[in-house]
Amino acid sequence: MGKLISLIELPTVPDDGFLTIGQHPHIPFTIKRFYYIYDCTPNLLRGSHAHHKTRQILFCLRGSVRMVLDDGKNKEEIILDKPHIGVILDKLIWHDMCDIQKDTFMLVIASHSYNKKDYIRDYEEFKKITNGNK
Ligand code: TYD
Repeated sequence: MGKLISLIELPTVPDDGFLTIGQHPHIPFTIKRFYYIYDCTPNLLRGSHAHHKTRQILFCLRGSVRMVLDDGKNKEEIILDKPHIGVILDKLIWHDMCDIQKDTFMLVIASHSYNKKDYIRDYEEFKKITNGNK
């Protein structure tokens, strides 16, 4: 795994099933928002944007998703299919969510509240911003 993909492994206790815990210091920011994504049309591409400020962690609680991360220079991908493993979607990381299945259920925790202006949805604009940062 390269330097773009950074995973968080949450502690899990067997408790007539499993119980997974997310808390400081495993979660490296204060959570201002969470949302979940489910009942998706299979294999439809989601994401395809980056954020100016917001940092997020995405967990795939059920099913699987292939995450492609891009910092404007390099791309790396990973398949998430374990409920206690999350991928960090740092600010200024373009992310695509691919190969989503009907039963895929994703939880995303975020460092900022929703703000439309925090989105970068134009890839050329993203490239300009990230190249300017180097
Ligand atoms: P979007 O972030 O584009 O979803 P994805 O990355 O999964 O493709 O959001 C989809 C829609 O939901 C868009 O119209 C904005 C809305 N939305 C909110 O209103 N609040 C939120 O916190 C999020 C994440 C999305």
